[in-house]
Amino acid sequence: MCGIIGYAGYRDVVSVILNGLTKLEYRGYDSAGIAIRDDNQIKIYKTLGKLINLKNELEANRADIKNPTSGIGHIRWATHGSPSIVNAHPHTCTCGSLVVVHNGIIENYKQLREVLINKGCKFKSQTDTEVIAHLVADEYGQTKDLEKAVRNSVKKLQGAYAVCVMHKKAPDLIVGARKHAPMLIGVGDGENFIASDTPAIIEYTKKTIYLEDNEIAVVTKDKVKITDVDGNEVNKKVEILPWEPVALSKLGYKHFMLKEIHEQPDVIRNVLNGKLYDIEQPIILGEVKLNNDILKKLNKIQIIACGTSLHAALVGKYLIEDFSGISVEVEASSEYIYRKSTTDSSTLVIGVSQSGETADTITAIKQAKEKNAHVLIITNRPDSNMARLADSLIPLNAGIEVSVAATKSYTAQLISFYLLAIYLAEIKNSLEQSYLQNIKHELVQLPAKIESVLADTSVIQACARKFSSFKNFIYIARGINLATALEGALKLKEISYINATGYAAGELKHGPIAMLDETMPVLSIMIPGGITYEKVLSNCEEAKARNAKLIALTSSTDEKLDNIFDVVLRIPHVPEILSPAITCVPLQLLAYYIAEFLGKDVDQPRNLAKSVTVE
Ligand code: F6R
Repeated sequence: MCGIIGYAGYRDVVSVILNGLTKLEYRGYDSAGIAIRDDNQIKIYKTLGKLINLKNELEANRADIKNPTSGIGHIRWATHGSPSIVNAHPHTCTCGSLVVVHNGIIENYKQLREVLINKGCKFKSQTDTEVIAHLVADEYGQTKDLEKAVRNSVKKLQGAYAVCVMHKKAPDLIVGARKHAPMLIGVGDGENFIASDTPAIIEYTKKTIYLEDNEIAVVTKDKVKITDVDGNEVNKKVEILPWEPVALSKLGYKHFMLKEIHEQPDVIRNVLNGKLYDIEQPIILGEVKLNNDILKKLNKIQIIACGTSLHAALVGKYLIEDFSGISVEVEASSEYIYRKSTTDSSTLVIGVSQSGETADTITAIKQAKEKNAHVLIITNRPDSNMARLADSLIPLNAGIEVSVAATKSYTAQLISFYLLAIYLAEIKNSLEQSYLQNIKHELVQLPAKIESVLADTSVIQACARKFSSFKNFIYIARGINLATALEGALKLKEISYINATGYAAGELKHGPIAMLDETMPVLSIMIPGGITYEKVLSNCEEAKARNAKLIALTSSTDEKLDNIFDVVLRIPHVPEILSPAITCVPLQLLAYYIAEFLGKDVDQPRNLAKSVTVE
């Protein structure tokens, strides 16, 4: 993970870099650092913890920074070496003339380190990144040309990298390189930028050049040159970012997560907008290019994703199989990569990713493309590396999600899967029109129903208060809400650090029931009218008989439930098939309020990052 920004230009270098790092904070936040060229010296400042510490450090040292003209900054998510000042970037060579920031993992760093130590290099940190500093410095010693030194060095690196390098003797020159990690150039007038992601530069320029793997960028305030690793100049297209800078504001909410949970009704309206405009008309998915040739040979769909997006994929499988009869496999991207998959040219491969930058999913999608599968990407970032691999695209239009725990992007992914499943059913003519129209009608009603859940969260808050001291939870459900149980448990784990596990309710008696006693609350998702409602209720009775505390999440108005369960979280009536798009909301809120009562850092939970760009 980690975020990088480099800047050469006329603006206040420190402010541009700190501002850029603020926009990249979602990529990591365990330490940060900056190297600034100032009066022909390179000055380095590093701090441990959140970016605010670096801001304070620079504020305190502002008087020492006189005429900064360029610089590079980094926000870290530790991979090699614990979070510490010494491991924070920028890293330097032995004499301190060369500085490097890096995002990625250098797999052969141990071998390189040994070679460089034998050449007399003095290592200070435990990071893999430091080898890059020594390696480029070593090459620079021979070539006296920073661009050439970077080119020669990256040829020796194995793994993933986006790097920016500056050298004391190469005034205002920043050399960047990338392989399997995102990097782009922001092109300005009398100023240029290098960054991991567009939010870092959008405030200053919309002109962007996306670097591809094995490309090198040579950037000064007046020049941008892109070459391949052999130094051949590459003609790159300057793309214009299609969006405006957004002010990242909590709009009065205590946390971004709470704000984003409350945005979900509008997010759903946005996803539906232009795709479902009349329940009697077919769904329109403008950027889905499944032509007749592809559809004729299509015999299987594979959905690849990680984390919360993987849970959305599980709902997607259920819907597509149910609506269209097409068989669907769901696989974690990290598993797909390392096995012999059955993907071929008759497979539709769907990659789901909020960020569009998840390294495992990108690698899996590239493999699927090599096998000639048609690739459909569902992402909140149509400007991402993953989207640029897509044959077909469903943009989520959920707006920037700041909180590390995904909420509104999950709902947007679910709604996209409803639309896609209906779209495929309409093409295949696999369902009665009246059934499809009813589903469409219910989809349109969903935002208002979620609004009613959000309008009064008092029962959820009371439940959170009552259960916040428990150390373990089990979430159960069957059928389409099994994914909701998994996702609800994941939300609780990631922001409150409470151990929560989702199970298929029917699996409880095959092992997990052994853990049940008064210390293990069981939360069950039960939608009346659904085929498994009574079965899940029986599973809850079995849990109660083992003294487990019970929480129900249901649309049932049956008062008898209040005698069986310790807490009943009620949602408006919705057909079971549509329910995952609303059952997720009280579970997001429950996780949020528990974490909040426990005083956790809700928006930036420990050890996590919003964009997981390492495998
Ligand atoms: C959980 C969460 C993660 C991500 C996962 C995949 O709240 O956010 O589990 O879902 O890292 O990320 P994307 O969707 O960006 O590929």
